[in-house]
Amino acid sequence: MTHRADRDDRTTGSTATRGAGRRLRSALIGAALLLGAAAGARAAGNPGPAQIAQLIHARHEHFHALGKTFKSLREQIGRAQPDWNLVATDASQIERLATALPTWFPPGSGPGHGVKTRARAKIWAQPQAFAAAAKTLASRAQDLAQAVPSHDPGSLRLRARALGEACGSCHHRFRAHSSWW
Ligand code: HEC
Repeated sequence: MTHRADRDDRTTGSTATRGAGRRLRSALIGAALLLGAAAGARAAGNPGPAQIAQLIHARHEHFHALGKTFKSLREQIGRAQPDWNLVATDASQIERLATALPTWFPPGSGPGHGVKTRARAKIWAQPQAFAAAAKTLASRAQDLAQAVPSHDPGSLRLRARALGEACGSCHHRFRAHSSWW
């Protein structure tokens, strides 16, 4: 039930529910901190609860940037007169983010640490499959960036579609439908 309320807050964007979500989240992080104090001694070298929250927050920020930039690029290449400078900037940012993606998933930043994330435990259980999905994204991002100087919207649209399929295929396998703590 709480999961649903939290997910709804994301879709409706209501300030009241968001506030409640935040309070709930900090309460949970507080509780996790207490539990973590004991676990910390046991698992020296692993990130502590505050660090995990930071890692997951940073990951979400990176994905937001990736999503926003990809949207901007798709919008430009759908125009009759794309702004080619913007397309080039977006494509190289997408390439940079796609290459960095594997570093956003350090061990211990998955579900089960009191911090909301849609990253599935499978990411760390099947590291090779996850790395392959990230690599597909990076190579399609590179294909797209390399095609920008051609200024050929048709070819860029095909490459953008292939890139989008790499996003979707990884989400399908490695991103949960709802958030778990
Ligand atoms: C190799 C796997 C993988 C690829 C490729 C991938 N994603 Fe994701 N994405 C994830 C996972 C896992 C999450 C969940 C992260 C979390 O909740 O901690 C996610 C979350 C997101 C989110 C939500 C962030 C939030 O705040 O909840 C957005 C937006 C997103 N991805 C966009 C994209 C776009 C756009 C692409 C392609 C250009 C892409 N992703 C490619 C695995 C991937």
